[in-house]
Amino acid sequence: MTNPRKILIDTDPGIDDAMALFYALSSPELDVVAVTTIFGNATTETSTYNALALLSLAGRSDIPVARGAEAPLVATYGGPVDFVHGADGQGNAGIPASPTSAVSESAAELIVRTVMGAPGEITLVPVGPLTNIALAMRLEPKLAGNVREIVLMGGNAFCPGNVNPSGEANIHNDPEAADIVFGAACPITMAGLDVTQKVQMTRADLARIAAMPNPRAAHLTRILPCYVEFHTRYDGLDGIFVHDSTAISYLLAPDAFTWAEHPVRVDCGHSFGRAKTIADETVGNDNEAWAGRTPVRILTGADSRRLVELELDRLARE
Ligand code: BDR
Ligand code: CA
Repeated sequence: MTNPRKILIDTDPGIDDAMALFYALSSPELDVVAVTTIFGNATTETSTYNALALLSLAGRSDIPVARGAEAPLVATYGGPVDFVHGADGQGNAGIPASPTSAVSESAAELIVRTVMGAPGEITLVPVGPLTNIALAMRLEPKLAGNVREIVLMGGNAFCPGNVNPSGEANIHNDPEAADIVFGAACPITMAGLDVTQKVQMTRADLARIAAMPNPRAAHLTRILPCYVEFHTRYDGLDGIFVHDSTAISYLLAPDAFTWAEHPVRVDCGHSFGRAKTIADETVGNDNEAWAGRTPVRILTGADSRRLVELELDRLARE
């Protein structure tokens, strides 16, 4: 096998964040070199506690964790979404504290040091609000020119949002940061609701996780009922949407996806369109607001069953 792809995961764990982290850690094609934390599903304090605890549970406390921003660049953080991920971000199931602590660098500093220390090698995988990535880009203007790619979970180009008809949660938590990141001159792949709502795990799939004899799967089985309940109540699903793990699946199996490529802007206005990720669909990119932006690979479809089987295979590994 070729060398594993080096990824830095920026996350707000979060039930599906925990799944994505374990999925990445158990995939030999990927080398998780660092984890950075952000507010979103929970406060940054809780996200950091959870990221450290999840890595400890997975036996990977060797991976550095850096604490991220406490609030969006411009707006005010709306607060944790207890009704989706539980008051503790982990389905109200709790997770034992890690004996290790976050590094003293901020998330933005760790992102800059990691990327600039391995030019062209690091793929950033943000699966929460994009504040840390935007701050890192401000801190080091050459950052975008030195990342291999950004593969992010967030946005909704061709479908409604999940916070409201305009916005998806990660982008809605910091639209100004997201507009900076989508304007970066580097390859960007967007695994937004256009594709993540098409990748679904059923109760039968989740029962397979429950039967896996490893501590990561046991933790997922404790936290998932809260997430299933949310999806049942709000989306009428008998299972869950696979949001954050779809970014990991794209890294492992890009041929399972379809996409469209367009420059993207984020509506940063303070009206009903706020946080909408707007793709320039005009050929020739002739609208001034989108001009000069690198086209973003917007994932639009996926072989859901193949990706679910891939993730279940990885989660089952010892
Ligand atoms: C995104 O929002 C969070 O609730 C999930 O962890 C995911 O990153 C889905 O809109
Ligand atoms: Ca997330």
